[in-house]
Amino acid sequence: MTAAIQDSRFMRALRREPVDRTPIWLMRQAGRYLPEYLATRAEAGDFLTLAGTPEMAAEVTLQPIRRYGFDAAILFSDILILPHEMGLGLGFTPGEGPKFERPLRDPQEIHALPRLDPNEATGYVMDAVRLIRRDLPEDVPLIGFAGSPWTVATYMIEGGSSRDFKLAKKMLLEHPEDADALIRLLADSTADYLLAQVEAGVNAVMVFDSWGGALSPAMFKRFSLAGMQRIVDRVKASAPETPVILFAKGCGGMLESLADTGCQALGVDWTTRLSDARTRVGDRVALQGNLDPVVLTTNPEVVERAVADVLEDFGPGSGHVFNLGHGITPDVPVEHVQVLVDTVRRLSQRRSA
Ligand code: CP3
Repeated sequence: MTAAIQDSRFMRALRREPVDRTPIWLMRQAGRYLPEYLATRAEAGDFLTLAGTPEMAAEVTLQPIRRYGFDAAILFSDILILPHEMGLGLGFTPGEGPKFERPLRDPQEIHALPRLDPNEATGYVMDAVRLIRRDLPEDVPLIGFAGSPWTVATYMIEGGSSRDFKLAKKMLLEHPEDADALIRLLADSTADYLLAQVEAGVNAVMVFDSWGGALSPAMFKRFSLAGMQRIVDRVKASAPETPVILFAKGCGGMLESLADTGCQALGVDWTTRLSDARTRVGDRVALQGNLDPVVLTTNPEVVERAVADVLEDFGPGSGHVFNLGHGITPDVPVEHVQVLVDTVRRLSQRRSA
């Protein structure tokens, strides 16, 4: 990793070192709220072609950096690419979300799943990383990512998005040993995949546990946290310079356990106060978050006030990366994102020095 990257605001904030102002990037910053994204996606025809064509994936990764000058870029891909390449057959129907042609319904099928070679099965992702790293300003860090084993397993078992995760939870409850094996296999494949991204040029990695909040504390520890722990251990052992960010949505009660994994930063959603998170774990990890994305659908005055509240709540000192508490939605006006970015820059200037 170059000195320019190591000295960037984002990397410094992850190490909880002083910064001139709070770094900001947004989950799903490359997405449908951006007209230039919609144009490239129309050119690609569909989402999987977009994610599977390195030049196009690189282009949409760079679009929000050009428009807003965010302090970090995030690789354009999806958490469902891995199970797709494991043979489940991903499809995206507009308006319906992701669907797997061959979901995992019989626990015996778990034991037949392949452990992928990430450079072979997902070589196009690594090619995209190399192209992005070539074209990104040299002081802007690139974040690689994957889904958490539990969150990816919910899609594999349910066959798509779900409201209550009944099939996935039944698998954990009725076939816990098979479920442990699935989590282990996904954790090992995900660690291989993230380490290949690091080798190709990403500077930090983030694990999205979007549905950790659907589990009881005991089930979260056995099936979600255990998988993320295995990933953190592998990344720390093989790429000790690469910070790991864990984002477990709806898991405010689990922050101490998440910090205990040895990760460098925790994503926090808007249901937990940053000041509370900071008191509980802030001396061990940096915090990333936590504006409710709905704020961006309102008006500039509300956006400014809500940004001030988030910065105020975190308080003085370093270790904060400004972000949303979940991904930006397609209905957000691009002007509101500009207000958000300007306000974070203006209000955080001295606070974090
Ligand atoms: O953040 C970024 O800009 C990088 C790209 C990124 C995408 N998906 C692109 C995408 C990232 C980091 C993700 C993560 C992801 N994907 C998660 C975890 C984060 C979260 O939101 O909880 C999950 C659960 C998924 C699964 C997924 N992918 C769903 C449920 C959908 C369809 C629903 C939706 O939002 O449209 C996707 C498709 C997807 N992945 C889109 C994008 C920009 C929309 C596709 C389109 O252009 O139509």
